[in-house]
Amino acid sequence: QEDLFKNVVSHAKEYGYIFPSSEIYDGLSAVYDYAQNGVELKKNIREYWWKAMVQMHENIVGLDAAILMHPTTWKASGHVDAFNDPLIDNKDSKKRYRADVLIEDYAEKLNQKAEKEIEKASARFGEAFNREEFVTTNTRVVEYLSKKNGILARMAKSLGDENLDDVKALIEELEIADPETGSKNWTEVRQFNLMFGTKLGASADSAMDLYLRPETAQGIFVNFLNVQKSGRMKIPFGIAQTGKAFRNEIVARQFIFRMREFEQMEMQFFVKPGEEMKWYEYWKNTRLNWHLSLGLGATNYRFHNHEKLAHYANAAADIEFNFPFGFKELEGIHSRTDFDLKAHEQYSGKKMQYFDTETNANYTPYVVETSVGLDRMFLAVFSNSLKEETLEDGSSRTVLKLPSVLAPTKAAVLPLVKKDGLPEVARTIIEELKWDFNVTYDEKDAVGRRYRRQDALGTPFCITVDHQTLEDNTVTIRHRDTMKQDRVAIADLKSIIENEVSM
Ligand code: GAP
Repeated sequence: QEDLFKNVVSHAKEYGYIFPSSEIYDGLSAVYDYAQNGVELKKNIREYWWKAMVQMHENIVGLDAAILMHPTTWKASGHVDAFNDPLIDNKDSKKRYRADVLIEDYAEKLNQKAEKEIEKASARFGEAFNREEFVTTNTRVVEYLSKKNGILARMAKSLGDENLDDVKALIEELEIADPETGSKNWTEVRQFNLMFGTKLGASADSAMDLYLRPETAQGIFVNFLNVQKSGRMKIPFGIAQTGKAFRNEIVARQFIFRMREFEQMEMQFFVKPGEEMKWYEYWKNTRLNWHLSLGLGATNYRFHNHEKLAHYANAAADIEFNFPFGFKELEGIHSRTDFDLKAHEQYSGKKMQYFDTETNANYTPYVVETSVGLDRMFLAVFSNSLKEETLEDGSSRTVLKLPSVLAPTKAAVLPLVKKDGLPEVARTIIEELKWDFNVTYDEKDAVGRRYRRQDALGTPFCITVDHQTLEDNTVTIRHRDTMKQDRVAIADLKSIIENEVSM
C-alpha cells in the first residue's frame, strides 16, 4: 500500500500530471501544480461533474463567484468563530501537530493490530481447528477494536464540547509521543483558525482584512436571490459552482489529498422546509451513482454517516473512497437547514426569503449540499487507475487505466517508421481528429516502446500508420487495456474513438 502510494506520486511527476509547487525553491508544503496532462485530467473531471449536475438537471444552474468576499460573509457563515483545528505543540521538539490527528493515528495503530491478528488467523485457516487459539485471537481483536472505538468516541465528545483539556489528557493517558522525536512533553491544546487572511487596499489604516474563501458554498448563498430572481427559478432548484478554496491546514500530508489551495465542486440545492431529508437521501444516492458511473469499482466506496455534525448541519454523510492509504472522505453531502440563509439575512439586514407564488407566502428555504474535492477526485481516479501488469511473455508493463472519458489524450498517432511518407499520413489523421479530441503525435523509438509510453500516460488508443495504410487507407488501432489491435479504415476512426470517450 505504501509502495503503491509512492508510485502514484512519482508516476504523477514523471508523466507530467502533478509537480510540487515552486519546486526549484524546494516546494511549498501541501501546494501542488497540475502539469500538462494533469490539467487535462482535472478539466475532464470538472466537466464530467458539470455535465451531470448542470447540463442534465433542468433545475440546476451554474455560478462563478469571486474568491474574495466581503469579510462579514465569514462572520455569518460561522467560519470566523467555528472553523478551527485543535493544535498541540511539543515543548522539546517545538513541532506543531493536530491533536485529533495524533489521536486518530494512535487509534489507527490499534486497528492495524486487530487486522494483523485476523490476517494471522486466516492464514492458518484450514489447519486443524484449535479452539483455544481461536478464542484468544478473537478476544484480542475485540480488545483492540473496542479500545480504538472508545478513544475515538471520547475524542469526538471532547472536541464537540470544546473540552480541550480532556483532549490533552487523552494524549497523555495514551502516552502518545512526538512522531518524529519520541518526546512526550506536550503543551496545552489550542484552537487554530484555518482561514487564510489577506488585505484589501494599500494604506495601512484603510486596508480591510479579508479571507480567502475556505469553501465555495458561501458565494452561492449570498447570490441565492440574485440567481433565483434573474433565472425565475422555482423551488426546488440548485446552484452549482467549481472553484478554488483555501485552508491553512496544519497536517499537510498525503499528497493532493489535503492541500492548502484546492478546488471544490459544490452544489447547493434549495428546498421547501420539511422536505430536506427526502432530498438529502436523493442526493446521497445520486452522487454515489455518479461516482460508480466511472467504473472504479463499487467496493471502493462506502458511506460514513456523521454523528458529530458541523455547526451548520442537521444531517451529514461522507462518500468515502478506498485511497492507497485506506478509506477516506471524498465527498460530503450535508443537510445545512436554513442556517446560512438565515445568518446572512441577520448580518446583512437583507431579506433572503423565497416567495412561493403557489401559496403566496415567503419562507427561508432549506439547503442540501453536495461538496466534492476536485483534487481528491483526481487522486481517487489516478491512484485507482495505476496498474503494474505482468504480461503473458513474462514481461511487465505500467498502465494508467483511466476511464477513457477522463483521459487527457484520447489517441496517439504513430507512424511505424520515420520515412516512406508515413509521418505525413499520420499528420493528416491528426489534422482531422484534433477538432474533436486531444490527440498526440509520436515518432521517436520503436513502436513497442511508444505503446508502453502511451500506456503509462493513460492514452486509450494508439493509431499506427504503416505501409499498408498507403495502399488501402487503413490503420491499426490498439486498445490500451486489452492491447488488442484492429485494422480499421481511417474514415471510421472518429466514430470508434467517440464511442468510447464521449461523456
Ligand atoms: N461546503 C462544505 C464543505 O466545504 P468540507 O467537508 O469541509 O465541506 C468538502 O469539504 C470537500 O472538499 C471534502 O469532501 C474534500 O473532498 C474537499 N476538501 C476539503 N478540504 C480539503 C483540502 N484541504 N484539500 C483537498 N480537498 C479538500
